[in-house]
Amino acid sequence: MVRVVAQVILAVALTGSLSLGQQTKLQAIECPFPEGQDVASEAKCAEYTACEWTDGRCHMVSNDVGGYVVDGEAQDTGRGFKVNLKKADASKTMFGADVADLVFEVIQHENYHVQIKIYDPVNARYEVPLPLNLPAEAEADPLYSVSVSGNGEPFHFNVNRNTNGNTLFRSEGPLTFEDQFIQLHTGLMSSYLYGFGENTHTSFRQVFEPRTTFPIFARDQPVGTEPMNEYGHHPYYMVMEDDFGNSHSVLLHNSNAMEYSTFLLDDGTPTLTLRTIGGIIDLHFFLGPDPEDLNLQYTNMVGTPAMPTYWSLGFHLSRWGYNSTDGVRAARERMKVMGIPQTCDIDYMDRQRDFTYDPVNWGDMPDLINELHNDNIKVTLILDPALVIDFDYYAPAARGKDSDVFIKWSDPSFVPSDQEAGTDDYMVGYVWPDTKTIFPDFLKPETATWWTNELKLFHDALQYDAIWIDMNEPANFGTNLDKPWNWPEGKDPWSLKCPENKWDSPPYPTMMIRVGDNQSKKISDHTICMSGNQTDGTKTYLHYDVHSLYGLTETIATFNGLTEVFPNKRPVVLSRSTFPGSGKYAVHWLGDNAADWTQMHMSIIGMFDFNMFGLPMVGADVCGFFNEPDLEMCARWMQLGAFYPFSRNHNTMGTADQDPGVWPEVGEISREVLTLRYKYLPFLYTLFHHGATSRDVYFPQGLWYDLVYAKLVATGPTTQTVSAPLEIIPVFVRGGSILPYQVPALNTVESRKNPFGLTVAPDELMIAQGQIFWDDGEALQHAMSQSYMSRLAYYQDELTMSVKHGQDAVAGINLETIDILGFPKDAQSISVNGAEIPSSGWRYDADARLLSIYISVPLADDLNVKIYYDNDGL
Ligand SMILES: *[C@@H]1O[C@H](CO)[C@@H](O)[C@H](O)[C@H]1NC(C)=O
Ligand SMILES: *[C@@H]1O[C@H](CO)[C@@H](O)[C@H](O)[C@H]1NC(C)=O
Ligand SMILES: *[C@@H]1O[C@H](CO)[C@@H](O)[C@H](O)[C@H]1NC(C)=O
Repeated sequence: MVRVVAQVILAVALTGSLSLGQQTKLQAIECPFPEGQDVASEAKCAEYTACEWTDGRCHMVSNDVGGYVVDGEAQDTGRGFKVNLKKADASKTMFGADVADLVFEVIQHENYHVQIKIYDPVNARYEVPLPLNLPAEAEADPLYSVSVSGNGEPFHFNVNRNTNGNTLFRSEGPLTFEDQFIQLHTGLMSSYLYGFGENTHTSFRQVFEPRTTFPIFARDQPVGTEPMNEYGHHPYYMVMEDDFGNSHSVLLHNSNAMEYSTFLLDDGTPTLTLRTIGGIIDLHFFLGPDPEDLNLQYTNMVGTPAMPTYWSLGFHLSRWGYNSTDGVRAARERMKVMGIPQTCDIDYMDRQRDFTYDPVNWGDMPDLINELHNDNIKVTLILDPALVIDFDYYAPAARGKDSDVFIKWSDPSFVPSDQEAGTDDYMVGYVWPDTKTIFPDFLKPETATWWTNELKLFHDALQYDAIWIDMNEPANFGTNLDKPWNWPEGKDPWSLKCPENKWDSPPYPTMMIRVGDNQSKKISDHTICMSGNQTDGTKTYLHYDVHSLYGLTETIATFNGLTEVFPNKRPVVLSRSTFPGSGKYAVHWLGDNAADWTQMHMSIIGMFDFNMFGLPMVGADVCGFFNEPDLEMCARWMQLGAFYPFSRNHNTMGTADQDPGVWPEVGEISREVLTLRYKYLPFLYTLFHHGATSRDVYFPQGLWYDLVYAKLVATGPTTQTVSAPLEIIPVFVRGGSILPYQVPALNTVESRKNPFGLTVAPDELMIAQGQIFWDDGEALQHAMSQSYMSRLAYYQDELTMSVKHGQDAVAGINLETIDILGFPKDAQSISVNGAEIPSSGWRYDADARLLSIYISVPLADDLNVKIYYDNDGL
């Protein structure tokens, strides 16, 4: 739907003095201690000249002393403006190495999008080296204005919404800009703050009281309930500003280890602190004003989500611990007997080595894949980034060495004295295989070429359909410890030990070293050392800076590789670690969760978060990865998981099987709910074409229909108790939409051949609309002119379908059923394309108020259906 943006009357303010009266009296901007806030004391506070102790609290000194001063007049850049800043008092510092002179620069992009950078103009600092989609020129009539304090005044800035004066960002307290500690605070319009990740959020909305802090840095960290950083890095948040639903979002485009803190100032103002330990401040503001607009505006910049391949919307079944091809066959038989549709992932490698399969237990893997393919089942295989050091007997690593693709130490003096022969200055670690490993540098163009070649050779051996890239934070076991937990028995203890330097032991390592599996209390915990070097061929980067890009760069290399393995098909890449932009290439699952009710609830929050991050194709491991679910939990989780965009049941080694085939009752429940999923796959697919949103969460008013019973159940806004016995998952659709569906079959390939139906769910005015998007399900985006699109409109007893393009893509497929929900009474007559149909051509269920019309018309043709009924006395 096209939104008309309200007329804008103000232009961007070049500069305007902000009176100090507009600044809140600051009492509660706390000084952060590297050891955590528990150590706060007057003596501890006195160690930092940027902090002072009053009223029993250690807080930042005031802005005029601890921050920066505007130094000169603002200069027009043609694209916005910039102004110089200088440190107010060089003696006030947290950890030293303050940058004395800074530039504050405003860059206008689209009328809804403005960028604000604060950087060192003399010594260029690290900036995220991956491109964003930015317009060549600034768009006229911006929705925003940015103002900054005047020459000689303490530095402070605001971002406002022009239409109503809402203050979206109001810097509070001093800006701190040191080599390895950057800190900025902002007052917020409201406490309706969402986003940031990848984190263990237990509520979708952020918590301000008590003060809550989360770290952000890609990390191999399973799901839990304490505030932790997990696999991906998404410094992106959204605020709903007012009762009118005006919303904005902000990306801090920075990949260094960071943390964010939410709290209330003493006067009650909801406030946000952003801290990062490298790079620059690079903020992108999006003005919406609707949450849905934000989704489009943000993904337009970082990358529009990949249109999923049709089959990937099917149900996926996986486990670590099938142990053999026969383990897979047994699970498959259980599923077949239950009539449950499936695709399949497997553990199969030879001694955990990438691009191999175990010759003993998985020796007939090619046969298994053929069997699955004959049944139209797709096969996803897993790859970890780390490769074993065995250049003589393991060709992928040898070819990688020839192309020089592995991450190195940033200084030859860091190479340990016991370095393996032949490994040069590569950083050596240890993960799943039983020998030490090295890590490809996916920033490097040579690595992408080598990886593509390995993917091709691998496909020659095993005809996989999709690649799952795991452990790509990148994960390393036992870093800095005596030895990894899985170190082979009997071998002398060894682990990757990071050197003592400013990168591996930064002055403020963020709270991540105190949460989760933090045995070594270093930011290299569970990963490789920060003092590694990577390169994109032109520049070198410290792993310290580019660590969180590892997953995205591996994702891009895998995506591009698969376009060569499968020419003209859309690649399916499932990635654990993500960064802004990953949605363009990858599907994501929420990592290692456990069979636990709280974590089942958290999976819904995780899905909402990733929708905001531009990765709508997301889901959690159904029935839990760790621990064993009981029948009730697995049944409920299968019901919920049937509505995850990415729907996969997966569990870990050593646990009992938990595929739905294990319990007859869960099997039956799963068959029903997955059948519902498969029925509405055309709708899910069409949604992806537009980029899915979580609109229902924000606006629950309207008419609501139960999709299982096809009947009106609620008129919102309202709260209603819904009965949900174990075999039923309540699924509702809001009035106003038309959902295409397809008679389901046992898998997505079979389903795609069946006839279509439409479910019409009218709103209060008896109006509904929808679309159908259809193509061959896997062609690359650029071949999509071959795709079918039709628009559907229902307006008071009349349904029209207008085909926009792509008639050939639906050749041979008919539309056979139209279900109109909430229809007031039986029809007297019905015409299809102007001709009356016999009364046997429809059925009315008076109890459900469901009118079902049976026709048989090609999906390729325009359609008009008119219903006549006696509406007297209604
Ligand atoms: C590693 O990268 C840093 C930062 O770019 C650079 O200063 C250093 O010279 C690099 N080291 C090597 C061995 O290339
Ligand atoms: C991580 O830190 C917390 C807080 O200090 C501690 O309770 C926990 O045991 C630590 N975990 C590990 C694995 O060291
Ligand atoms: C697979 O092997 C592991 C390790 O030997 C064992 O713990 C597990 O029970 C096996 N899984 C199955 C399903 O037999």
